[in-house]
Amino acid sequence: MCKMARVAAALIRVMFHVVAVAVPVKSLAGVAKVAFALINQRCLGYMDQAALGRSYTGTFCGDALVGAMAHSWRILVQGLTSLMFLCVHADEYVRPPPSPLVLVAHDKPASHPQQVHISVVGANNMRISWVTDDRKAPSVVEYGKSPGKYTTLATGEHTTYQYFFYKSGAIHHVTIGPLEPSTTYYYRCGRAGDEFSLRTPPATLPIEFVVIGDLGQTGWTASTLSHIGAADYDMLLLPGDLSYADTQQPLWDSFGRLVQPLASARPWMVTEGNHEIETLPVVEFAPFVAYNARWRMPYDAGDSPSGSNLYYSFDAAGGAAHVVMLGSYAPFEEGSEQRRWLERDLARVNRSRTPWLLVLLHAPWYNTNEAHQGEGDRMRRAMEKMLYDARVDVVFAGHVHAYERFARIYDNEADSRGPMYITIGDGGNREGLALRFIKDHKSSHLSLFQEASFGHGRLRIVNETSAVWSWHRNDDDHATVRDEVWLESLAAAKSALAKTARRHADEL
Ligand SMILES: *[C@@H]1O[C@H](CO)[C@@H](O)[C@H](O)[C@H]1NC(C)=O
Ligand SMILES: *[C@@H]1O[C@H](CO)[C@@H](O)[C@H](O)[C@H]1NC(C)=O
Ligand SMILES: [Fe+2]
Repeated sequence: MCKMARVAAALIRVMFHVVAVAVPVKSLAGVAKVAFALINQRCLGYMDQAALGRSYTGTFCGDALVGAMAHSWRILVQGLTSLMFLCVHADEYVRPPPSPLVLVAHDKPASHPQQVHISVVGANNMRISWVTDDRKAPSVVEYGKSPGKYTTLATGEHTTYQYFFYKSGAIHHVTIGPLEPSTTYYYRCGRAGDEFSLRTPPATLPIEFVVIGDLGQTGWTASTLSHIGAADYDMLLLPGDLSYADTQQPLWDSFGRLVQPLASARPWMVTEGNHEIETLPVVEFAPFVAYNARWRMPYDAGDSPSGSNLYYSFDAAGGAAHVVMLGSYAPFEEGSEQRRWLERDLARVNRSRTPWLLVLLHAPWYNTNEAHQGEGDRMRRAMEKMLYDARVDVVFAGHVHAYERFARIYDNEADSRGPMYITIGDGGNREGLALRFIKDHKSSHLSLFQEASFGHGRLRIVNETSAVWSWHRNDDDHATVRDEVWLESLAAAKSALAKTARRHADEL
């Protein structure tokens, strides 16, 4: 069945290319494209309005008819994508029914900023990103330390992208700074709309990270976000799968609006998951089009530029913590750009100055859940030794929609000098939870805590030796701490190893 689907997709591709060279047929393809666009836009428009509780046609029968059309259309488009995914993971775990999407509309003028989010750039700068429906709106940010009093103006650039027949608004990126650490700044984007405020991260420890993967935009997401917002933190780390737009581009816009209250106030540092790929058979071959345009990360800043938005690293707390964002969906094998960059990046880390080394990636290397078994194995084999040799403290992953915490591991064995592995893919997306853990999995003895509930995690690094990790489960209206563990930095383990090596060398 999968083989047939792959053959069919290949055939369609070949036909599409043949069609593209034959000029008279090309105009036929053009007509088909326009027809597709018309249906697509109408259906997306209907779904937007319906989710907001509004009527689309103004009549009950009209709505019922367009609704039925819209849903069969969505199933058709998503079916194509899913078919490709299913071919890769044939016996995928079937999840519980989804929760309704929470769509957020933009009801301000087209020149007003929306989807505002911020990310750190180097030690003292911050990138402000936002979207305007008006593609001529200026890419400027005015900012200062008191509300309404802007002392500095920074200019940046904007980009747009086209996804099949969807054309994005202007996606603006402006870098502001140098900024002082632990300081609140007030800012306005594009000389229009509301004022926002942000707090820069501290330049020394302590620092608190929120970690959450597979966020999506459902009622569950909304409750996770409200729990995150209810307690302070310095920076949010997201190991992939953001919007679950899954080719429906307006859902990226709605996601941006949903997370704006939090993402405009603290830096959100993200890496990509499989839901960011968004290739479609026949119509969209380029991966990560929306993700790269909208969620631009500092891959070209700092001392260790990677050259790809799909993996990068940055320092936090004045270099006391180094955070490496890996790309599960960029080449990682020996000889790949990502691997070469990771080698250089880890070699630069001096653990006397940087006691904390954190890694985030999407598909977990250790996982006892039925969902996504073995999907991180190839990457683990390609990179685990590098992380072990660098004495990485914690590896965070998403992808599996549940929470799981492992012991310190190296190569499938407990090892006190290996990273602690945590899966935190329980942000609240529309696919629901991954409910079943495998009792007699070969890694079960290394898995110290498993639970399939939505929630978020916090890593508070207290000082150069100690940090506390906690997992906060969404219990209706409040977040409950369900798992908490103190950990010690492995920087000391590294120097102990270096000393032993030196002693051996001296003895020889
Ligand atoms: C690492 O940092 C420490 C403390 O700043 C310094 O003494 C040492 O020389 C550094 N090591 C290397 C290899 O740069
Ligand atoms: C770091 O914090 C832990 C936990 O609060 C404390 O026990 C330890 O003494 C501190 N270490 C240093 C070097 O301050
Ligand atoms: Fe995923």
